[in-house]
Amino acid sequence: MPVRLEIEGGSRLEGHVAVGGAKNAALPALAASLLTAEPVVLENLPRLADVTTISRLLELLGGEFSREPDGATRVQVPRLRSHEAPYELVSTMRASVLVLGPLLARTGVARVALPGGCAIGLRPIDQHLKGLQRLGADIGIENGFVEARASRLKGCRVTLDLVTVTGTENLIMAAVLAEGTTVIENAAREPEVVDLARLLQAMGARIDGAGTERMEILGVSELGGCRHRVIPDRIEAGTLLVAGAITGGDVTVTNAVPRHLSALLAKLEEAGVLLEVAEDRIRCRGPERLRPADLITSPFPGFPTDMQAQMMSLLGLADGLSRITETIFENRFMHAAELNRMGARIETDGATALVRGVMHYQGAPVMATDLRASASLVLAGLAARGRTEVSRVYHLDRGYEALEAKLQGLGAQIWRIP
Ligand code: EPU
Repeated sequence: MPVRLEIEGGSRLEGHVAVGGAKNAALPALAASLLTAEPVVLENLPRLADVTTISRLLELLGGEFSREPDGATRVQVPRLRSHEAPYELVSTMRASVLVLGPLLARTGVARVALPGGCAIGLRPIDQHLKGLQRLGADIGIENGFVEARASRLKGCRVTLDLVTVTGTENLIMAAVLAEGTTVIENAAREPEVVDLARLLQAMGARIDGAGTERMEILGVSELGGCRHRVIPDRIEAGTLLVAGAITGGDVTVTNAVPRHLSALLAKLEEAGVLLEVAEDRIRCRGPERLRPADLITSPFPGFPTDMQAQMMSLLGLADGLSRITETIFENRFMHAAELNRMGARIETDGATALVRGVMHYQGAPVMATDLRASASLVLAGLAARGRTEVSRVYHLDRGYEALEAKLQGLGAQIWRIP
């Protein structure tokens, strides 16, 4: 029997819980270590399956890992042993494509397996490739691999057709060692992009405009080592807040950055959740009955697609009809059918889900289909009457560090069944 989570619903969650380092900031930070022969020391790296996957990839490429006395991770790539991200790793985790920009910038050669579609959508990487071509790389697709070559990349102006987070990150990492200035228009403004820019600046890069839609990067000839603290995970923070709200509990999330969570906090308040926001913590109290709210996912600072599934679980218990529109991924409603098996009343039609609130969920065996969908099922299970069994927990482990232990600490009845 594969690993699953069992949840006995109905406990009101209470207490304090600390948020860990952000998965989606840790992955590009590790990829950025390819840009220098000197050590990069990362604090607050989360212990997650995806972080292990990219670390394995870096080791294949020549990376050496060790732990600092204070627990920080030190990674150093003195010289590159390979230029290839193999299919086995890219198919496990598509963010492996983040090594493309840095490999090309440091050595002028990269071979990266082309990621396929995934559970939530097609997810092409055409914008990454277009940008690298604009920077002067010669790019071909051969036998399922992106083959990229360049003597030295040259600064240019790239206007992205759509906002892409890892696409922007790949281009920044390519441009930092290019000759001259690169301007990225329609850049992603996510906090994880800003965190990568901060790390690269500490390594000696010249970057302006991080956090805005126009970034300007003046290439330098060399980058050095540095120490960097990865930002807290805003999606983990948001998931824990919803856990408090959905159980009618009183949960304080610590080590969070409230301004990274503005869109979510606004929606929680609209749904009747009581919030107290301080500098690095958010207290959340669930109401007697939630109110419905409409939401549309969009790039930062809009409502994050990575919180859409969790919010659907919450609004499924509201007193009325909520409309959820997903604009980032074309197939990110797979949790709706599983929530309906727990008694929710959700109808999806293309990019829209109509969520008619019910009074209670009922515990049921359910199956996780992707990372955030798994989190939404755990949340529904916490609020449900009776026992819920969530299978395919490996999806959850890609992006949440010991979620069940954190929930147990707040009083949840949740167990991992090996
Ligand atoms: N897109 C293209 N062409 C491209 C790149 C993207 O058409 O070249 C499309 C995608 O198919 C999608 C949209 O643009 O429809 C946005 O995708 P984006 O590139 O921004 O997504 P990503 O960089 O692959 C990151 C996060 C995701 C998060 C999205 C959106 C990392 C490692 N992953 O993915 O995180 O959902 O941004 O915010 O940063 C998660 O943590 O659960 C997760 C899926």
